[in-house]
Amino acid sequence: MTPDSTIDTIDTIDTIDDVLVVGAGAMGTQIGAAYALAGYRVTTGDLAPEALDQSRDEAQRRLRRLAEKGTFSRDEVDSALERMMYTTDSLEAARTTDFVLEAAVERIDIKRQLFADLDEAAPEHVILATNSSTIPSSLLMDATARPDRVCNMHFFNPALVMNCVEVVRNPQTSDATVEAALGMVHRLGKQPVRLNKEIPGFVANRLLGALRNEALRLEADGVASYQDIDVAARTALGHPMGPFELMDLVGIDVSYLIRLSEYEQSGDPADLPHPSVQKLYEQGRYGRKNGRGWYEYTS
Ligand code: 3HC
Repeated sequence: MTPDSTIDTIDTIDTIDDVLVVGAGAMGTQIGAAYALAGYRVTTGDLAPEALDQSRDEAQRRLRRLAEKGTFSRDEVDSALERMMYTTDSLEAARTTDFVLEAAVERIDIKRQLFADLDEAAPEHVILATNSSTIPSSLLMDATARPDRVCNMHFFNPALVMNCVEVVRNPQTSDATVEAALGMVHRLGKQPVRLNKEIPGFVANRLLGALRNEALRLEADGVASYQDIDVAARTALGHPMGPFELMDLVGIDVSYLIRLSEYEQSGDPADLPHPSVQKLYEQGRYGRKNGRGWYEYTS
């Protein structure tokens, strides 16, 4: 393994045509659609056939809407949809892919097993990236025999809309891998943010976390309702949505598991999920995805 080869960089960027996205949740679905729009052939893998059906429907709906709005032509959207495939056997798909982006559940045990299996299945040159913002790739790289080709590529929700992608290297990630990831972000028409070292939460979520923690404290202390705190964020700060609306968009379950994973890594009780978030999680109020979170949703 040669961490810093320029030849690797050119080869890798030029040869990425087929992309495997593992995980057909909200993030995996829209990341896959973004890759397809940029001309990549995309396979979305998930163990659950019903998750794949939902993912296909959602991708079709989102991409057709982009054609209706004129953001992309009907032909561009139709050919992007033709480039999107679905499978319950991600490991089989990994055998013929050029690049893997993992967007599965935020559980380190599951991700480590997945990375070990993907490493067995995927050709040697393939980069294995994770969309996680809380599990840095240094916690996954030693599950593989290719630590130089493992990194984080962190997209934001909703991934078809949000332009930022954080590219984060672990101490063993090669320059070639970082350059290939940055090249892909540019081809997606998105804006890369390059992190030179790992830190839990990376950059954007740390900024967001500071705001969210303060918002949760204000609500729990009875200073203002969550609705009014959201109004303040939107109308005083110009944020597109308030911190409680954003938690519902990202998913209460996702927020909860992210905090739990941060706590597991730091051991700092301050990193535990806030009790209000834990309560919503235990009540199964996951946010927009199931119609109930901080707010109620009718459609
Ligand atoms: N998926 C895809 N596209 C969406 C969408 C979604 N869930 N929601 C909205 N859009 C698109 C649509 O194209 C819509 O246009 P259309 O309905 O006319 O076709 C356009 O965005 C504008 O939507 P709306 O008019 O309904 O509402 P807004 O103007 O408020 O925009 C928003 C919605 C883009 C989600 C905006 O509110 C926003 O930017 N919110 C902040 C999002 C944010 O901060 N994301 C980061 C979360 S943190 C994260 O992801 C990290 C992870 O690790 C947890």
